[in-house]
Amino acid sequence: MTAPNTAVVRHFLVDTDLSPAEQAEVLDLAAAMKQDRYGYRPLAGPQTVAVFFDKTSTRTRVSFAAGIAELGGSALIVNPGESQLGHKESIADSAKVLGRMVSTVVWRTYAQSGLEEMAANSRVPVINALSDDYHPCQLLADLLTVREHKGKLAGLTMAYLGDAANNMANSYLLAGVTAGMHVRIAGPEGYLPQERIVEAARARAAETGASVTITTDAGEALAGADVVATDTWVSMGQEDEKAARMELFRAYSVDGAALKLADPDAVVLHCLPAYRGYEIAADVIDGPQSVVWDEAENRLHAQKALMAWLLAASGLATLEPAG
Ligand code: CP
Ligand code: NVA
Repeated sequence: MTAPNTAVVRHFLVDTDLSPAEQAEVLDLAAAMKQDRYGYRPLAGPQTVAVFFDKTSTRTRVSFAAGIAELGGSALIVNPGESQLGHKESIADSAKVLGRMVSTVVWRTYAQSGLEEMAANSRVPVINALSDDYHPCQLLADLLTVREHKGKLAGLTMAYLGDAANNMANSYLLAGVTAGMHVRIAGPEGYLPQERIVEAARARAAETGASVTITTDAGEALAGADVVATDTWVSMGQEDEKAARMELFRAYSVDGAALKLADPDAVVLHCLPAYRGYEIAADVIDGPQSVVWDEAENRLHAQKALMAWLLAASGLATLEPAG
């Protein structure tokens, strides 16, 4: 029995796992797959993709299930509490078993270290479907959406307001600078990105001509921005802090007054689920500058491209249309 070659397998655990050129390749492939929705079959067989959830989900669950089917594969969705993963055996042991049965592992979980242990022991690609630290699949969809509406990414200014210490803030920062965008992150003192993440973003920005601004001043982040983004103030697992958080982030709400500070043609992103009247006003999310429904749809196209690209980069599939 030959040992699995875990060294050559590509994973997507954090936004910077794709180089700037690779991120552009995935977005190009996503756009091609959106045009030719049923034309790519890298999972034909069908091969199985296991999709594990330790936290709840609507978009991630449905977009992976639909995307896997559209690529010719079969999705195995494992809901919270339904498997031994992370409880009754080591993550490394689970990874070794899964790699013998499925072609890709997708996992929504809490600790980033769990995903890292899974990837280190996996002979198939591992994809982060949201952790406490990052939501990189969401950012591929967000960037695809901005590119569709603005025609480009590099050189645009993207402002994120609100809980600036959460997974979405970190991913906006890292994925945005990878795309060459000027990323401004605004939140209250004590709820800004950790220094290690800011340093990683600045290093990537130096490669792409991007820039990073971290501020407590929402107006500074918004001034002339081409893209305005926000996320819930109460992430999964923080429900006990809800009342305090609703007060803490109030000055960072994306409402009509905030949007007036951005470029008049700015587009508004929210990964959903949204809490109208808190992190985003109803007339903004339901207004003409909102692109949140395109953003949600693009989860499907972006993740199909990501799965195909990772398999191809790992030598496990080809990227050609089925023809
Ligand atoms: N945006 C997002 O990941 O949504 P779900 O939590 O519904 O998957
Ligand atoms: N920050 C949010 C994103 C939900 C898609 C959370 O982690 O709950």
